[in-house]
Amino acid sequence: MIKDASPKKLAFLSAFPLTLLYFGILLFVDIVLQVKLPWFVYAGGGLLIFAVSFYLFYYILNHFIYDKIRLIYKTIHDLKTPSSKRKKRFYRQDNIIDQANNEVMSWAIDREQEIENLKKLEAYRREFLGNVSHELKTPIFNIQGYVLTLLDGGLDDPNINRSYLLRTEQSINRMISIVEDLETISRLESGEIDLKYCHFDMIDLVQEVIELLEMEAGQKKIRFVFGRSYDAPVMVYADRKQIQQVVTNLVVNAIKYGTENGRVKVSFFDMDEHILTEITDSGIGISREELPRVFERFYRGEKSRSRNHGGGSGLGLAIVKHIIEAHAQTINVRSTLGVGTTFAFTLKKGKQVGGGIM
Ligand SMILES: Nc1ncnc2c1ncn2[C@@H]1O[C@H](COP(=O)(O)OP(=O)(O)OP(=O)(O)O)[C@@H](O)[C@H]1O
Ligand SMILES: [Mg+2]
Repeated sequence: MIKDASPKKLAFLSAFPLTLLYFGILLFVDIVLQVKLPWFVYAGGGLLIFAVSFYLFYYILNHFIYDKIRLIYKTIHDLKTPSSKRKKRFYRQDNIIDQANNEVMSWAIDREQEIENLKKLEAYRREFLGNVSHELKTPIFNIQGYVLTLLDGGLDDPNINRSYLLRTEQSINRMISIVEDLETISRLESGEIDLKYCHFDMIDLVQEVIELLEMEAGQKKIRFVFGRSYDAPVMVYADRKQIQQVVTNLVVNAIKYGTENGRVKVSFFDMDEHILTEITDSGIGISREELPRVFERFYRGEKSRSRNHGGGSGLGLAIVKHIIEAHAQTINVRSTLGVGTTFAFTLKKGKQVGGGIM
């Protein structure tokens, strides 16, 4: 391959051997046929042959090949670049074959990546739809079973009529909670949720959540404790309602996957511009293999599926992560099987109402 092939270079490389051939023929006539030719036939003829063939080659290459390639190149280049950024000078370059080749290569790589992304999205969408229908199927079939039994005479049986209706209601509540979680996720993903930032006390918020979940915790005799006694408010700057959802989901998990007589500890750490909140339980823990997956939508750990831990749909932590990331903050998890789990997330430090921070 000729490096940096330009029409001039190619025309020169074609005209040169032609001129040599002309000299070869003259030498043959001179030596073999013994016909002596004057010097100007050599010089003038050589020059003429070189000039004419150079010009001819140059013309053909330029007009019949390069112009066509230039057109293809222009099309590719225009497809790749947004119209506002297109540059005319691109089409005037000499080594246009190499340029076109590079452009085609990078264009192909871009397309390949695009196709890869689309394939991933497609698989994700399929998996998502499968998960949604799977999650909804269980309560729907339960409701169907209870209603059919009631219709088949169960309605008149005082032993089951009320309890079956209660179970039907539970299944309906379950469906409502799945649909609400899905709505939250889709609003978070489409960026529809406008965060309403305000300054608030995290201790206050955690206490509110604990009060609401006292009954669930009481059933398992789980105690709530703070990491230490905080005498001043722990102020953060965030969307209070969303953070309440985060803390609720984390504390619900801590209770759900906690062991009897266990405890849930909430601690706050001052990190200059941020407040780190940690929620630690003394529960079943999460295995090393499962740990990186817990924030995935619909992901439920092996243990939570096999044992009865309240039958979640695996959306709780996905929502938590979305909310924290919408605040441009981070959340992480560490855990030891059989010992417990800690979820830790950061929030921007808030202003103390009437004074310092923490
Ligand atoms: N504190 C925890 N201790 C042990 N395992 C946990 C804890 N929190 C979450 N997990 C594991 O991570 C999985 C995902 O949690 P996530 O909250 O997203 O879903 P879920 O609790 O199963 O259902 P949902 O919250 O939607 O009702 C759980 O199924 C469980 O296996
Ligand atoms: Mg959960």
